[in-house]
Amino acid sequence: MLIAMTDASPSWADLFKQIADAKSATELDALEQSVFGRKEGLMTLAMKELKDLDDAKKKEIAKDLNTQKNKLSESLAKKRAELLSPSSDALAKDEKIDVTLNLPTKEQGHLHLVPEFMDQVEEVFGRMGFDVAYSPEIESEDLNFTQLNIPENHPARDAQDTFWIKNDGKEKSVLRTHTSPGQIRYMRSHKPPFRAIFPGKVYRKDADATHSPMFHQFEGLMIGENVTLANMKAVMITAIRELVSKDAEFRFRTGFFPFVEPGLEVDMRWQSEDSKTKEGDWLEIVGCGMTHPEVLRNCDIDPEKWQGFAFGFGIERMVMIKHQIPNIRSLFPGDLRFLKQF
Ligand code: PHE
Repeated sequence: MLIAMTDASPSWADLFKQIADAKSATELDALEQSVFGRKEGLMTLAMKELKDLDDAKKKEIAKDLNTQKNKLSESLAKKRAELLSPSSDALAKDEKIDVTLNLPTKEQGHLHLVPEFMDQVEEVFGRMGFDVAYSPEIESEDLNFTQLNIPENHPARDAQDTFWIKNDGKEKSVLRTHTSPGQIRYMRSHKPPFRAIFPGKVYRKDADATHSPMFHQFEGLMIGENVTLANMKAVMITAIRELVSKDAEFRFRTGFFPFVEPGLEVDMRWQSEDSKTKEGDWLEIVGCGMTHPEVLRNCDIDPEKWQGFAFGFGIERMVMIKHQIPNIRSLFPGDLRFLKQF
């Protein structure tokens, strides 16, 4: 009689042993079926037989059966988990990782040449004590031209160079043609002495191998009580040597910009023998000069007390010279065949 098992226990003990010895999940399933199977399971049958017993006995045996049932379920679950989780031996064999294997490398991008160069500009000028400030790309005609002492009829305002923005009778706006309006904004919001650079995009209707309708400049401004042209030359030369090459050669020429007096243009040349740039050996990269007194007055700065210089660099020009890139248009389409060379 089955119920005898519950008293005699050895049979339950056998079951526990069989569970402990099971070698696979299938073997374990079979054992579980033999105990808990809904028709023939030993436990199921034992439970059924309870109903023939008198109350006292029934209570006692039911209690014992329940304990066994819980213990069996527990050891089945435990064994199952054990069989399913691979031993460390099995892991070492089946999941072996060869750390010497050459895995495909993840492609990693890098900054484009232009923003990379801008970062370097901020760093180099930062070391020379220059603040960095930004000003808008859509600018008023007033700040882009008038406040910079550029008269109404100056060719720089010509429709040929400037992108005008449609306006409905309000003040005229332009896509800034240079970063120089940053000077005005900075001088009106800071008290001298100061030195700052203003990097960003500028726009002109112009396109050939060395001109693009959108390009980058960085403006610079240094105003103090005793700032001279010699200081300006030193800053220009230091910056170009650090940013492009310590072997760079320079040429300072006079140049006209209404917001400086005197005005200069700086050309540079480097490794001229394999220079591939279209404009020959020398490439103009900077316009600069001593800030015009009229511009200082426009910003409420007394030209009798303060003086200084301003400069504007063409970033693509410098990048082209530095990396020997013959055409400015290679810089903008984002073609990986080009970008991956750097
Ligand atoms: N804004 C001038 C240009 O774009 C460059 C410049 C800046 C010249 C500052 C002198 C001083 O050509």
